[in-house]
Parts: sequence; C-alpha cells; structure tokens
Amino acid sequence: MVPPNLQASFTSTLASAYINYSVLIDNVERVNNAEQARQAINARPASGRISFTEYQRYDAIQNYLSELATNYTDIVSVEEIGTSYEGRAINMIKIGAGASDNPIILVEGGMHAREWISPAFVTYIIQELVENEANRNMIENTNWLIVPVLNPDGYEHTHTSARLWRKTRSPGLLCTGVDGNRNFDFHWMETGASALQCSNTFAGSAPFSESETSALRDVVLQYTDQIKLFLAIHSYGNYLLYPWGHTSDFPEDVNILDALAVEVESAIASVSGTRYTIGSSTNVLYAATGGSADWVKGVAGVNLTYTVELPGGGIWGFDLPASRIIPVCEETFEGVKVYQNYVENNF
Ligand code: ARG
Ligand code: ZN
Repeated sequence: MVPPNLQASFTSTLASAYINYSVLIDNVERVNNAEQARQAINARPASGRISFTEYQRYDAIQNYLSELATNYTDIVSVEEIGTSYEGRAINMIKIGAGASDNPIILVEGGMHAREWISPAFVTYIIQELVENEANRNMIENTNWLIVPVLNPDGYEHTHTSARLWRKTRSPGLLCTGVDGNRNFDFHWMETGASALQCSNTFAGSAPFSESETSALRDVVLQYTDQIKLFLAIHSYGNYLLYPWGHTSDFPEDVNILDALAVEVESAIASVSGTRYTIGSSTNVLYAATGGSADWVKGVAGVNLTYTVELPGGGIWGFDLPASRIIPVCEETFEGVKVYQNYVENNF
C-alpha cells in the first residue's frame, strides 16, 4: 500500500527502475469502509442466536456461548480460562453428553486476529455439536473443550482499527503485540520467530509472556492425559499441518498423523472439491517455533496435534467474503467428523 502523498514518487521510482506494475486496489480505505459499513448493518443476529452470514464481533460470540450454557445445562458449560491484556474474558466452552472422563478434543480459534474465518468456523463447530441433534453421537463418547476467540483484543482491533492486525495487544516500548503462535515454550525463538517487537512474528519477551497463550497452556496442563486431539484453527492456505516447526525431521508417529489427515482431507474435498496440502509444518509451509500445536505435542505429550489453515479469499486472503463462511464451515466440519470418529474409535 502506498499513501497518496507518496504515490507520484513511488511510481516514478518504479518507472526509472523499469519495474512493471499494476494497481490492484485503487483506494484501500474505501474498500475497507464499505466492508465495515456492510458488517455494521448485517451483523446483528436475532437475540442470542448467532448468524454465519456475517462475521461476528467478540461480544456476539460471548453472548452465544452464555445462551448455550443457559439453554443446554446438561451438556454445556462455559468457563473463563483467562483474561486478555485489555481485560476481556477468554472463554472456553465445554461440551459433552457422556462420561466426564471421555477422551477430549481441544480446539483453539482466533489466535491470529485477522483470520476471521477461524472464530467463525470454531463457533460453527460449537453450534453443530450443541444444537444439531444429528451430531449427538459426536458428543456422547467425546468431550470437547473449545476456545473460539483466544486473542479477543486483537480480534476486536481488526474490527475497529486495523483489519490486518495479527498479534495480541500487549504494549511494548516501540510496538504493540506479540505473535501468540511464536510464544509457546518449545524451541522458543529458535527459528521463524522474531526478537523484534515490531515484527509480526515477535515471539514475546519470554515464553508465555502473554496471558492469552498462558490461558491455553493452563487448560492443556489441567487436562493433559485426557486430551487426545488438538486443533489450532488458522487461515489461510488450505493446509493440514502436523509437527514439527523446528525441524524437517518427522515426529515418530508421523504415519498416524499423516494417515488421519489424509482421511480428513478427503472428507472435506468430498463436499465441493476443496483440496488441502498435508504435511509437517516445516516441510510444507515454513519452519517456525513457539506455535501452540508443537508445544501441545512436544511438551504436553498430546500425540495428535494439527494446525489447520482454512481457505483464504478476499483481497488479502484473511478477508474471506462473509458469503463464504457457511460453505467453508460446512465442508470443513466434515473433516471434524473424521477427527472425532478417530478419537472415538482409538481412545
Ligand atoms: N501460519 C501459522 C503461523 O505462522 C502456521 C504455523 C504452523 N507452524 C509452522 N511451523 N509453520 O503461525
Ligand atoms: Zn494464523
């Protein structure tokens, strides 16, 4: 993006260097404002209910969780697992219709603020598990711990001020925010993470410097032995990634991780042909350390952990049009069914 006052010198620099270019968006601000206005009009769900035709604000998602806790007391409870830097509740919903010691699937959403489809999809998972009677089997032998918005400050910031914000909102001397997915204490700061506060992949001043990442850590430590599968939901790029991020070596159970991902991928693809790339995060995406999925496997010892990169869209990839929320949720939920089925049959 080039601000208007630099446009002339920018284009003449390009011209004098013989660099060809084309303008993709003439006025980014206008596009942004139009999208925001549309959101404001359409994102008011009927009381208590949630809608997936627009992206929801943090408050609407919290209200939906409370609503479920009130209406489904036998299978749902909501727990505040921590507080964000700016003081927002980080809420986790627990879902289960069977034994309290059933195997657990833990789902993390909204680590990266701008990846709006993540909280949307994770909220969709919640709705399907709680409100769709057809999925009752998915909660009878499996318990779910689901955090739809792990980084609420960042998420709200993308709605009010900066659409492409990624990090948390904890202040630093020079710049704001830490990349939560570089802040976990496993090979911390080794590779693909920055020590520079102003970087988008700033790993933080120390492992678990962020209350948001600490909140997820504590949940994992509380339920370590019971958690059998962990999903970190991100966007974008259509990847099903398993560890590791610090080495191109495969984990010893790579065959299991890979085979399960292959099944998940084909279930997703069967809906309308969306394909995903499967592999270890270093090998198919890039090396980066301090991510939640690596810590949950490498330190907490949960064998099956995946980072899911949902489909992109829009101008930047992170701004998948709201009209795509439902199709993406529907197809990806078929993959969640496969994950659940695996956990039910193997633990
Ligand atoms: N896009 C995610 C991130 O940058 C994916 C991380 C997956 N791990 C990896 N080592 N590539 O946080
Ligand atoms: Zn992400």
